[in-house]
Amino acid sequence: MSNKKTIFRCQQCGYVSPKWLGRCPDCQSWQGLVEEMAIKKSSRGASLSSRAQPLALADIPFESEDRLQSGIGEWDRVLGGGLMPGSIVLLAGDPGIGKSTLLLQAMAQLAQTRRVLYVSGEESPQQLKLRALRLKIEAPNLYIFSENSLEALLEVIEEKPPEIVAVDSIQTFHSRQLDLAPGSITQVRECTARLMREAKERNIGIFLIGHVTKEGSIAGPRALEHLVDTVIYLEGDRTHTFRLLRAVKNRYGSTNEVGVFEMKELGLEEVPNPSQLLLAERPKGVAGSVVACSVEGTRPLLVELQALVSTTGWMQPRRTSMGVDSNRLSLLLAVLEKKLGFNFAQHDVFVNVAGGVRLLEPAVDLAMTTALVSTYLDRPVPPDLVIWGEVGLAGEVRGVGHTAIRAMEASKMGFSKYLMPKSNADRLSQELAGDCIGVRSLQEVLEIVFNKG
Ligand SMILES: Nc1ncnc2c1ncn2[C@@H]1O[C@H](COP(=O)(O)OP(=O)(O)O)[C@@H](O)[C@H]1O
Ligand SMILES: [Mg+2]
Repeated sequence: MSNKKTIFRCQQCGYVSPKWLGRCPDCQSWQGLVEEMAIKKSSRGASLSSRAQPLALADIPFESEDRLQSGIGEWDRVLGGGLMPGSIVLLAGDPGIGKSTLLLQAMAQLAQTRRVLYVSGEESPQQLKLRALRLKIEAPNLYIFSENSLEALLEVIEEKPPEIVAVDSIQTFHSRQLDLAPGSITQVRECTARLMREAKERNIGIFLIGHVTKEGSIAGPRALEHLVDTVIYLEGDRTHTFRLLRAVKNRYGSTNEVGVFEMKELGLEEVPNPSQLLLAERPKGVAGSVVACSVEGTRPLLVELQALVSTTGWMQPRRTSMGVDSNRLSLLLAVLEKKLGFNFAQHDVFVNVAGGVRLLEPAVDLAMTTALVSTYLDRPVPPDLVIWGEVGLAGEVRGVGHTAIRAMEASKMGFSKYLMPKSNADRLSQELAGDCIGVRSLQEVLEIVFNKG
């Protein structure tokens, strides 16, 4: 029997089958299974004598954290205070969102004092030089290397080890040890695992860029997330200039921290006051437009949420949501119908978050519901009103966290009325309370905001 065993692996989810299948039984994607050479697992080799011994926690020497800071505040904060040497960070995002731009900027900053290697499998040195000129980047210790072979990269690192390596993008790299195309799930995993070893052995900090594929996952769904130490996503709408950098996994810091950037001529620029930018074009006194307060990590964001309800011309009315979860929208519509007697069966419903921001918190429920009621009744809400709170299936308004942070941000931005869950309002300190309206149910919102009994 040949010892070259082949397997078939789904390029989307990593499911392995001994024979070819047209459709992956796990993730149901079509044409996803590709033939690969099975990689032999090393036998549980290390002999007892060479095995490391367990250490008492108290005996483990403590090395103070010396994080590598870029000086770009938003970037360092999302990483938990800077890059940990010996760790590997995956920077993921849609194609064209600005990953290469942001990484080059951060590397240039880090290269002011350290030796940094930027390896690109996507662009030539000339193209990278052009980008650097466009971004007005000057960094004498930043070394550029156009290559997509993992072995070549490892050799270069061995010859003259840099402190930090940036790899753009991991999907373009391939290892000669595997007879597979770059970008296939096994190649991407193998390259990442070998780089991980390199990072740990040499105490190098490594950044990897990963493109999110159409299905919204990196090189087949999240195939890399468990391999690396930190995963950060650069999000935003390409038609807008606003970008959020979000940590979704961090072995060396808090997750769900966000950094806010704006895409400008000179690349991505930090935004110290995102609420101001997001509310800049808000129309006042218009039905369907409300201001929500969402907290991303520890960052409060005031965002304009817009809803539009219009008579449908279709058998099946449309439900379109941008920036909020579509399931959440369906749920809130159902609550409005069942509990408050609204009828959306003959209406198309659209919800949009201004600025191309994505709001993931259930705390935007109350704002979304108020926007829907406002457009349905064609009655604007007061322009100085900010709204937050979660809505339950019984039409009750539930308390959310970070009340004080939200109220402070709203007050800083000149808002004077806050619509929030009663339980939050009760606990708000006197000086922050302002004109605070605590509500227990959607019925109360109708009565208080729209004067409808
Ligand atoms: N030479 C250029 N001139 C002007 N804008 C550019 C140029 N190259 C890239 N951009 C802009 O910068 C954005 C981000 O590009 P890039 O950082 O390469 O994205 P990613 O690496 O995420 O695919 C692009 O969508 C494009 O609009
Ligand atoms: Mg790129």
